[in-house]
Amino acid sequence: QSVYCLVSSLGESEDAIASMGSCQLLTSLVLSMCCHVLSTTAWLISAFLFLQAYLTYSSSVQAGAQRGIEECKHQFAWDRWNCPESELQLSTHKGLRSATKETAFLHAISAAGVMYTLTKNCSMGDFDNCGCDDSKAGKMGGRGWIWGGCSDNVNFGENISKQFVDALENGHDSRAAVNLHNNEAGRLAIKATMKRSCKCHGVSGSCSIQTCWMQLSDFRDVGNYLKIKYDHAQKLEMDKRRMRAGNSADNRGAIAHTFSSIAPAELVHLEDSPNYCVRNLSLGLHGTEGRECLQGGKNLSQWEKRSCRRLCHECGLKVEERRIETVSSCNCKFHWCCTVKCEKCTQVVTKYFCTKKNKSSRPQSSRRRHRVRNR
Ligand SMILES: *[C@@H]1O[C@H](CO)[C@@H](O)[C@H](O)[C@H]1NC(C)=O
Ligand SMILES: *[C@@H]1O[C@H](CO)[C@@H](O)[C@H](O)[C@H]1NC(C)=O
Ligand SMILES: *[C@@H]1O[C@H](CO)[C@@H](O)[C@H](O)[C@H]1NC(C)=O
Ligand SMILES: *[C@@H]1O[C@H](CO)[C@@H](O)[C@H](O)[C@H]1NC(C)=O
Ligand SMILES: *[C@@H]1O[C@H](CO)[C@@H](O)[C@H](O)[C@H]1NC(C)=O
Repeated sequence: QSVYCLVSSLGESEDAIASMGSCQLLTSLVLSMCCHVLSTTAWLISAFLFLQAYLTYSSSVQAGAQRGIEECKHQFAWDRWNCPESELQLSTHKGLRSATKETAFLHAISAAGVMYTLTKNCSMGDFDNCGCDDSKAGKMGGRGWIWGGCSDNVNFGENISKQFVDALENGHDSRAAVNLHNNEAGRLAIKATMKRSCKCHGVSGSCSIQTCWMQLSDFRDVGNYLKIKYDHAQKLEMDKRRMRAGNSADNRGAIAHTFSSIAPAELVHLEDSPNYCVRNLSLGLHGTEGRECLQGGKNLSQWEKRSCRRLCHECGLKVEERRIETVSSCNCKFHWCCTVKCEKCTQVVTKYFCTKKNKSSRPQSSRRRHRVRNR
C-alpha cells in the first residue's frame, strides 16, 4: 500500500486514463510479486527493481498512451464513435468494458503508442540501458547496400511496452485474450510500417554503396494502418458450449483453439458495436446529436464528404448550418521598440452540426402514422 501511495503521489499527469492504468498496473504487479516470491528480502529487492523500472519508464509509457489516444481521436474524428474520453475510462473498468471493434482499435493503438514512444526515447538516448539496434550493422543488405546507421530499437520498445501494457490484463477469460491479441496486433503494426532509410557513399556522391537502417514511420502511418485493420476486424465466435460447461483448463483450450485461425496482425472482437447514434451515458455513449460534420469543403476525402450523412441523416437527425464569428488578431505591425500591435478581425465561418428534427414538421408525423399502421 505504501508503494502504491508513493507512486501515485509521484504521478504528475492529470490524465485520468493513464494514471488509472498505472495504478492498476502497480497493484496487479505488486500483488503478483507478493504471491510468487516467498522470502521478504527477495520481495523487497524485486519490489525495488520494479519501482526503479517503473520510475524510469512511466513518463514515456504515459506519453505513449496519450499519443495513441490522440491518434485514435484523429482517425475517428468523423465517425459516429469518436474515441470519447468517457469510454476510455470505462474500457479499463472491470465488468463494464466491452470487446467491440472500437475497443479493439483502442487497445491496439495504445499499445502501439507506448511501444513507439519508448522506441523513440531509446533512439534519442533518453535511457542508459538502450541504444540503436546495431545487430545487423555491417551485414550485406541487398544489391549495393549494407546495414549500418542507427536502426530504431523496436525490440526494446516492444519488450518494455509488453511489461507495462499487457500487465493490465490479469484475467484468463476470452475478453483478456482478445485484449492481449489486439495489443500485440498494435505492436506488430509498428514493425509492419517501419521504413528503410539509406545514405549514399562513394566518390563525390556516386552512391556506389549505400548504408541503410530501419526507421519508425510517422505515427500517423501506424494509425492509418490500424484503421484499415479496424475496418476488417474479425468477430470471434467462441465455442460457447465448451466454455460454459468447462473448467478453466477447458476454457483456455477453447480460447487457444479459436485464436489458432486468426493472424496475429488482425484485430478481433467479441461483441457487435452498440448504436453510436443514440446517447446512453451509462454506457459512456454520447450519441451524435450536436456533433459537427463537414460539407462543401474543397479538399475533403470521400469519408469526410459523407460525414453529415453518416453522423446526422442516418441517425435521424438533421443538419443545421451555423455561422460562427471568430475573432482573431490580424494586420500585426511591429513598433519600435519593442511592441507588436494588432487589429482584431472578425471572420465568419460556416459550420454544420447534427440537431434534432423539429417535432412538428411533416416528415416526422407521417412516419409516426406509418408506424402505428404497421403495428
Ligand atoms: C520520451 O518521450 C516523450 C515524448 O515523446 C517524453 O514525454 C518523455 O519524457 C520521454 N521519456 C524520457 C525518459 O525522456
Ligand atoms: C526483454 O526483457 C527481458 C526481461 O526484462 C530481458 O531479459 C531481455 O533481454 C529483453 N530483450 C530486449 C531485446 O530488450
Ligand atoms: C442504456 O443501455 C443500457 C444497457 O444496454 C440499457 O439497459 C438502458 O435502457 C439504456 N438507456 C437508455 C437511456 O437508452
Ligand atoms: C488542397 O490540397 C492540395 C494538395 O493536397 C493543396 O495543395 C491545396 O492547398 C489544398 N487546398 C485547400 C483549399 O486546402
Ligand atoms: C418547428 O416548426 C414550426 C413550423 O414549421 C415553427 O413554427 C417552430 O418555431 C419550429 N420549432 C422549433 C423549435 O424550431
